[in-house]
Amino acid sequence: MIYTKEEILSDHDYAQPNEMAGYLLHGGLNEEGNYISPRTRIRWKAVNQWTQILNDRGHELLDCSVEILKHDNFPSLNQAKLLLNQGEGQFLWNSLTITGIIEARGRALAEIEAPNFQDIIVEDISDTCLAHMNKGLFIAHGFDEGGDPDSDQGAHDQMWFAARDLLLGKDAYPIPEVPESIGRPAQEREMPDLPIEHEGILNLLLDVLMIEIRAESFFSYCMNLAKSDDVFIDRREDALLAGDMVSRIRQDEAIHVAYLNLLVSELRSFTFKTVDGLEKKGSEIIDPLWKKMVQWHGEEVHRESVAIRSEEFVKLFDKIDNSNLRNKFNSLSTNSELYSI
Ligand SMILES: [Fe+2]
Ligand SMILES: [Fe+2]
Repeated sequence: MIYTKEEILSDHDYAQPNEMAGYLLHGGLNEEGNYISPRTRIRWKAVNQWTQILNDRGHELLDCSVEILKHDNFPSLNQAKLLLNQGEGQFLWNSLTITGIIEARGRALAEIEAPNFQDIIVEDISDTCLAHMNKGLFIAHGFDEGGDPDSDQGAHDQMWFAARDLLLGKDAYPIPEVPESIGRPAQEREMPDLPIEHEGILNLLLDVLMIEIRAESFFSYCMNLAKSDDVFIDRREDALLAGDMVSRIRQDEAIHVAYLNLLVSELRSFTFKTVDGLEKKGSEIIDPLWKKMVQWHGEEVHRESVAIRSEEFVKLFDKIDNSNLRNKFNSLSTNSELYSI
């Protein structure tokens, strides 16, 4: 199926706006009050059709479930509840703020122009997700994350801030330091069979796909936290609204994982013309890099961020100076070797 950019970017007719905690946000509600993600009037149908075409050609999607990640969140849900019920909300306020700021940066995806993959692929790719990267898919993705500059509606950045404000208050703490990048650092050439510009975009696709998968695990965590009735006890109603807001972001993210997974899976299924004039299966080119991405995002970066957080928690517990609380916190850890304060 071949679509125009306008079709890929088109919105549903909403019955009501997506408004919460003083923020006017993208997407909208239908007659029944159910949330509908922005720019999905055609996008989901198109992705499902191209997925069917891939399956009919005898190929499967990659496994992009959160199970490919090795570790759960730190602090664990019960550790988070313990701190929040002590009035110590800064760790969560910081996480939500940083997530919002990083989401805003995702708008850069709207500016991406991929090189023509038909030039280096043997098979005809016109009826694929791959052929639509520059026909609205990257723009839709970038606008979902950081907003459409021509619209007054906020996107994921604002949606995270809305959830944060409902849970902990808008100006509860100072804005924390935000990491410069959350992607895998640039490496030497890793796919010398491809022209450098094709390698660059492929690298980006795999990196962003892993970032989206990691985000999925943070969504479940935030939603579980907001919906638990033994935390945010004095603001249960607001906490439930915040949980709804996170579930709306999560709904929007599902199409990101779906189309990125499909792009990578299509690329794995095709035959590439290498720079040496040979032919090579896409999976042979992509799988080694995908493995490294999963390892870096699932393991290495997790350990780095645990080390940074552990340092912050050590400072916090030194300040609170309550060894019982510290022991309790450690006892609620899901991995005492990795997450000990
Ligand atoms: Fe997002
Ligand atoms: Fe996303």
